[in-house]
Amino acid sequence: MGEMMKKKSRWWRKGICLCLTAGILTGCQDADTKENVKSIRIGVTVYDQYDTFISQLIECFSADLSNKEKETGTVIHIEVCNAADSQTTQNSQVEDMLENGCDVICVNLVDRTEPTTIIDMAEKKNIPIIFFNRELVEEDLKRWDQLYYVGAKAFESGVMQGEVAAEIFQSDESVDKNQDGVFQYVVLEGEAGHQDAIVRTEYAVSTLMEHQVKVEKLGYGIANWNRAQAQTKMTQMLDQHGAEIELVLANNDDMALGAVDALKAAQIAREDWPVIMGIDGTDVGLEAVKQGELAGTVYNDKEGQAFAMLNLAYELATGGELSGLELEDGKYIRLPYAKVEQEDVEQYQNGEKP
Ligand code: GAL
Repeated sequence: MGEMMKKKSRWWRKGICLCLTAGILTGCQDADTKENVKSIRIGVTVYDQYDTFISQLIECFSADLSNKEKETGTVIHIEVCNAADSQTTQNSQVEDMLENGCDVICVNLVDRTEPTTIIDMAEKKNIPIIFFNRELVEEDLKRWDQLYYVGAKAFESGVMQGEVAAEIFQSDESVDKNQDGVFQYVVLEGEAGHQDAIVRTEYAVSTLMEHQVKVEKLGYGIANWNRAQAQTKMTQMLDQHGAEIELVLANNDDMALGAVDALKAAQIAREDWPVIMGIDGTDVGLEAVKQGELAGTVYNDKEGQAFAMLNLAYELATGGELSGLELEDGKYIRLPYAKVEQEDVEQYQNGEKP
């Protein structure tokens, strides 16, 4: 068996990589000039393919491919690997991608504090890396000039979540169930140590306070972005605080939906539910806003992030121009968030976000 075939069967045996175009293992041509590049190869590795937001982001990325191919006349081979929450697995996926001639690799780090192995391997082979969604610290990103980051401004989502919650508290007296003038809240947090968890919680609460809403924290649960874990944590908090909970600040939609599941399982009447806020605007999250189960969410622009990542990957792989890509500090692309409430949710569901 040739070396390439051995590699291919190893990937498929692991069952964690997916080829999105035919001919994944055909070698890519060298990028001498942009006009000469007829085929490029992009490796993508995600921390967990079952994460709702990440899987939708990757769907967007794949959906953009054929347009990019038509627009540029370049065949784009993509392989997507699931690191299944193991940094060691992800490191070896990147190693395989480098050995197999990827021109650029997009990495959704498992552990955002452990990018060193990947950076060192990539630098040795001179292959650029685009980190996305799980932001490494600036010092790491600055370690080599071929490292980039695509994501969003975490604090902005927290501010927007806090603004929507403040507006609801100030416009609807019924949400202050005990009428004490204080918004009693619980938090469902994403992974400990993830930039979006820490920063979203902090800014959501400080924004409520800046809007003159008095708040009291009743409890919190770390639920790792996960709906089932959030249901368990919310069930525990309901047992402890019951009807005292007036607001649930969830760091993402899946966890907000876990809170909904807990309320339904506890058979709490809908009019007695707390205000529940998510972040992401995933398909299920938007539908829950439409149904009034979530009071609102904050749109995490997966289409924009996927599009920016593909454009950046393409330019890097073909030795093209980065000047049109609006890179902050020559390294970062950050897409803005947007508030979504019931009145504008259909626009988002129809893909016509303002
Ligand atoms: C966040 C997103 C979460 C989860 C996480 C994974 O930006 O809001 O739902 O996908 O990234 O890193």
